[in-house]
Amino acid sequence: MPNTVSRTLSTFEGFVVRGNQLGRTIGYPTANLDIQSACFPSLNGVYSVYVTYNQQHYKGIMNIGYKPTIEQEKPKKTFEVFIFDFNEDIYGEKLGVEIISFIRNEKKFKSLEELKAQLKKDCQIAKSHFEESKITISNFTMHIQHNVIHLPDLDFARHCETRYGINRGVYNTIDKWFSDNGSTEIVGRRKRILYFLHWVTAYTSKEKLKFGNKGLSEQLERFSTESVY
Ligand SMILES: Cc1cc2nc3c(=O)[nH]c(=O)nc-3n(C[C@H](O)[C@H](O)[C@H](O)COP(=O)(O)O)c2cc1C
Repeated sequence: MPNTVSRTLSTFEGFVVRGNQLGRTIGYPTANLDIQSACFPSLNGVYSVYVTYNQQHYKGIMNIGYKPTIEQEKPKKTFEVFIFDFNEDIYGEKLGVEIISFIRNEKKFKSLEELKAQLKKDCQIAKSHFEESKITISNFTMHIQHNVIHLPDLDFARHCETRYGINRGVYNTIDKWFSDNGSTEIVGRRKRILYFLHWVTAYTSKEKLKFGNKGLSEQLERFSTESVY
């Protein structure tokens, strides 16, 4: 189920309209959406999504773009979802879509078979983003949701702010500290930021974090020497 984090990303609704029905010929029947709301990601590409239909929630993957693999006279921007473990006739029905994470850019494939192979990979990537991973550091265990790790920059910063009660300045300082200390790869750095915030929360045993003038850098130094990470 969507958590508080994913609510910070785009959510939109649309009615299912008929596509060319090519998807089912390669084993990926998709729902083409006529989008009602103006709020959707501006970046074309493939996303992992939660889909709401008839008050039920499903996981899936979505493509936003022009389907360059398919010969078309007038390519038109389409919104197309493939819903996992779903097999119902939903033409004309309304779906809610919540973007969880970005998977890749839209691509022109040489054949539908190549597209099909890529869709299989997309499903695996999406599933890994939905999964939780359990990580133990020092004496405690934390759960990191992959979809948090893969959020766009702004949403990840917002997650840290709302979950740990820090402001943007503190977030930026922490991000810069890890970057300056060798954590240049973004996913690894985000994990360290979450570990740090979780670790420091455990030490201060307060719901929200407050740092004095030098408090933050002292805690960061302490974290780097005391935590196993
Ligand atoms: C998750 C997902 C990813 C897709 N990625 C691409 C892509 O990278 N390139 C592309 O040309 N079409 C992509 N498509 C669109 C397919 O070309 C489309 O699903 C197929 O042509 C069937 O469409 P139809 O059912 O409207 O006929 C993607 C569709 C989905 C659902």
